[in-house]
Amino acid sequence: MAELLGVAVLGAGHMGADHIRRLDQVVSGARVAAVADPDLDRAKDAVAGLDGVTVHADPLAALDAPGVEAVLIASPGPAHEEPLLAAFERGLPVLCEKPMVPDSTGALRVVEAEAGLGRRLAQIGFMRRYDAEYRRLKSLLDGGGLGRPLMLHCTHRNVSSPPGFTSAMLINSSVSHEIDAARWLLGQELTAVTVLRPRPSSDAPDGLLDPQLVLFETDGGALVDVEVFVNCGFGYQVRCEAVCERGSARIGEDHTMLVTSAGGARAEVAQDYLVRFADAYDREVQAWVDATRQGLVTGPSSWDGYASSVVAEAGVRALESGGRTAVELAPRPDLYADLSR
Ligand SMILES: NC(=O)c1ccc[n+]([C@@H]2O[C@H](COP(=O)([O-])OP(=O)(O)OC[C@H]3O[C@@H](n4cnc5c(N)ncnc54)[C@H](O)[C@@H]3O)[C@@H](O)[C@H]2O)c1
Repeated sequence: MAELLGVAVLGAGHMGADHIRRLDQVVSGARVAAVADPDLDRAKDAVAGLDGVTVHADPLAALDAPGVEAVLIASPGPAHEEPLLAAFERGLPVLCEKPMVPDSTGALRVVEAEAGLGRRLAQIGFMRRYDAEYRRLKSLLDGGGLGRPLMLHCTHRNVSSPPGFTSAMLINSSVSHEIDAARWLLGQELTAVTVLRPRPSSDAPDGLLDPQLVLFETDGGALVDVEVFVNCGFGYQVRCEAVCERGSARIGEDHTMLVTSAGGARAEVAQDYLVRFADAYDREVQAWVDATRQGLVTGPSSWDGYASSVVAEAGVRALESGGRTAVELAPRPDLYADLSR
């Protein structure tokens, strides 16, 4: 392996450009070797000022570019399956943004292809597992001092939804993070979903069912509720309270700057995920680079990506039907035996 891990970044949009900046300026031990985006101008803009990077319209050409030893996939979810399978064929380690593959049939193909290799190559971009507060909550729950967790109360609010955001995307895009976080925090699989909806906010785009209240059941008998509200107007808020047998623990309070003036106090609220989870993205990519340089694959697995897609699909069906929908997972290959890994 070269002194710096050569990374091909696929997709140079919001996340891809931010990961390119992170690999170049924040993370140690890696460099951007190639970038692919069908919008070549966007790709060129994202690597302006970087040396030794090749730019491609075709993502597979970037995998085969000189100096590429690992792949970071940040294209839209439906475009992830092809480069994941291509990376597996080439034996390249991958960090793939969530959703791994939104369609669960395609997600299962990825799991089966990796399981067929007999070793992990993919880490999935559920970056909350790298957030300092989430990690503290996880170690508190694992320590067992509060007894068994009984419920998680979660909140996921965005200032406004991007154009084209659909009612299903509240679940399969926004709540996909809570799906993974709940599975990881509890070490349990989600087994059923019910979605309730109050009247839509008058500030939501016409026809968008926003907010929604999503209720998950788990195979360990816990319940997880998620308020998802993507046009709340005032900020980006992600909170989680674990209620256990002998106490509760809450993370995600807005502990940014508190401004006191003129007889009052005003707490600032982060406006987007790139600010709220900046440290988590940095730690996620650094952990991936460090592990890859040691020949290891750690973090959320393809199984986690698959399970998230199956639960999200069940959630969308529950939204449409108004009823409780069971989650049916395929048998888990031995490669992914440990849920919390
Ligand atoms: N982890 C997180 O918190 C988080 C947050 C936002 C987005 N995401 C994920 O990151 C991914 C990208 O989201 P985004 O917000 O950057 O989207 P975006 O629309 O800003 O950018 C996507 C880019 O990919 C390019 N593209 C399209 N098809 C491609 C292909 N086949 N190969 C390579 N590039 C292709 C587009 O031209 C565009 O430049 C998605 O999977 C999204 O769900 C994750």
